[in-house]
Amino acid sequence: MSGLRGKPVDALYASEAAAELAALADEIAAHDKRYHRDDAPTISDAEYDALRIRNAAIEARFPDLVRADSPSRAVGAEVSEKFGKIRHAVPMLSLDNAFSEEDIADFITRIRRFLRLHDDTPVALTAEPKIDGLSLSLRYENGVLVHAATRGDGQEGEDVTANARTIADIPHRLAAPDLLDPPPPVFEVRGEVYMSHADFAALNARALADGTQTYANPRNAAAGSLRQLDAAITRERALKFYAYAWGEVSDMPAGTQTGMVEALKGFGFKTNDLMARFDSVEGLLSHYRMIEARRAALGYDIDGVVYKVDDLELQRRLGFVSRSPRWAVAHKFPAEKAVTVLEAIDIQVGRTGALTPVARLRPVTVGGVVVTNATLHNAEEIERLGVKIGDTVRVQRAGDVIPQILGVEASPADAVAFTFPHLCPCELKTPVVREVTASGVEGVVSRCSGEFACPYQRIEHLRHFVSRRAFDIEGLGEKQIEFFFNDPDLPVKSPADIFTLAARDAASLKKLKDKDGFGALSVAKLFEAIEARRMIALDRMIYGLGIRHVGEATARVLARAYGSWGAFHDAALKVAGGDVTARGEMDALEDIGDAVLDAIARYFSEPHNLELVERLASALSIQDAERPAAESPVAGMTIVFTGALERMSRDEAKAMAERLGAKAAGSVSKKTDLVVAGPGAGSKLADARKFGVEVIDEAEWFRRIGG
Ligand code: IVH
Repeated sequence: MSGLRGKPVDALYASEAAAELAALADEIAAHDKRYHRDDAPTISDAEYDALRIRNAAIEARFPDLVRADSPSRAVGAEVSEKFGKIRHAVPMLSLDNAFSEEDIADFITRIRRFLRLHDDTPVALTAEPKIDGLSLSLRYENGVLVHAATRGDGQEGEDVTANARTIADIPHRLAAPDLLDPPPPVFEVRGEVYMSHADFAALNARALADGTQTYANPRNAAAGSLRQLDAAITRERALKFYAYAWGEVSDMPAGTQTGMVEALKGFGFKTNDLMARFDSVEGLLSHYRMIEARRAALGYDIDGVVYKVDDLELQRRLGFVSRSPRWAVAHKFPAEKAVTVLEAIDIQVGRTGALTPVARLRPVTVGGVVVTNATLHNAEEIERLGVKIGDTVRVQRAGDVIPQILGVEASPADAVAFTFPHLCPCELKTPVVREVTASGVEGVVSRCSGEFACPYQRIEHLRHFVSRRAFDIEGLGEKQIEFFFNDPDLPVKSPADIFTLAARDAASLKKLKDKDGFGALSVAKLFEAIEARRMIALDRMIYGLGIRHVGEATARVLARAYGSWGAFHDAALKVAGGDVTARGEMDALEDIGDAVLDAIARYFSEPHNLELVERLASALSIQDAERPAAESPVAGMTIVFTGALERMSRDEAKAMAERLGAKAAGSVSKKTDLVVAGPGAGSKLADARKFGVEVIDEAEWFRRIGG
């Protein structure tokens, strides 16, 4: 950092200003690279913003000193589209995490219950290391590698085919051993790209010698190396690949997980030698302990052990809950810990107005990653930990989770207690209120009561709207949102304003292309990206609204259940209006309960939101949700299962109906299309008769859906 920093801009001499602008240009460019290219930022967003603000202030006072490589000219450059996108034929999912032996026992119990297996019926599972790299999907057609895609958001990833071809462990053509000859015409192989400890150390040593960017850990190094525009650089990086899963496969070469991995090996892939198959929880756990004991000597990073149901037919029956399979779980190793000094506590205001205290830490390496911030959650947590500013604290980091403070190690005499603010730090200084739950109990969350007036909440709402899993507008990242929020000529105060930007720019005298940091090209690209998002998937739209408790998974459930924006909007308005039937129907959906229903009711009763929704709906073309298996004989039906079922559990029946494009409801109404009743069915059967709903038994159900 430049020694001049800190001197008021007004007091700078031109020579000092020039030196500081040069230093800032270098420093900001380095942070941009760490953030965008290497996925490894080393400072907080606020610290980064402070650098840019300082740069802008100096440039405002010394306009003649603005450099050609000034960071103020580079808005949008860092978000340039590097790779094309590839839609995954089969989504790439994540795994649920488990942290204790009890979690694993529960996992097995849930599987047994779902499949209605007896307690002593053995269920075989595999156990294998969870590689700490990044997942990659390789598509082979007639045995030839046609493309490679990163996971991305699970639905769509980046096209890294040229780079993947440089990895020695990835065959360009599948081997065809006699017993498996020939490979399936379509075969998507999935696995993990990673870097060994030795290659990581060598790469960083070279970078240090050359004065170029080093990486924080092998995972970041693997990600950064795979995502190089120049595949020749990827080739030099010595990446490795383990195959452990698959996507679309035209003819399955085996019926078990172990058989498939054996087949992958036969086709020429590296598979992990530490994979084994067990019939009992004890077997899995002892394998976990063995792998944990050998962890340090493996030569590559792993962060847990993955258990998978071996029989693929059982996997199919178990299916998925939102983004993770029911048939697999990641048993994570315990978190890594370190000790450092708590230097300050800042308050952040989130999208819903929640005030979160954030600990600013003296930088410390925890398990290979430099940690500078930790969450303190809320006022209660600060009190529970008894932590003061200046204390030496124990921190832990587990996987991708935000680091946490575990406790105080030492407290010097001059440590300062933190007083939680009673006013929002925003310019309105709105009073902070403690949340009260439905049952009247005071919660732990403090919220700014400013809602639509609080600038922090409005900016956070916009950030959420353009975020990767919502509208994902290329060139409109966090920083650009802040720019437009504060721009007097083309203000973006609400998500709907994004879609009027181009028209307002055309009508405005002060054109965006003439502003600092924009050029004609980047403006054209931005408007193009916004135009492209006028067509939006229903689940992204629902998620983008930022309704509390409606995360991505819930948005997807709602989108699938209602199918169209019109149907969802109608239902939401009815729920807001207190319509009991509409609420009951929404309540019957998987993973939707009172918290979500209340949040939807509140959202759709609020005039600001109704206006926003109205403006968005007229500006956008909201795509109907993909109805799974639309050609199935029960697609689009609302079905109720009742009474004792013999071949499947109630949960499995519901999941099966949803897979076939039907909606599984919990109660019978005149909108129910079909009731599947087993022995002992009571009031629901009576309701079905009352409303004239068709009733069938379990055997007929299987006949209809084709076995
Ligand atoms: S199985 C349906 N097996 O963990 C899930 N994943 O949290 C298919 N990973 O995105 C994944 N080692 O990148 C599986 N042996 C392993 C793995 C593994 C690492 C990663 C993978 C995935 C993430 C899920």
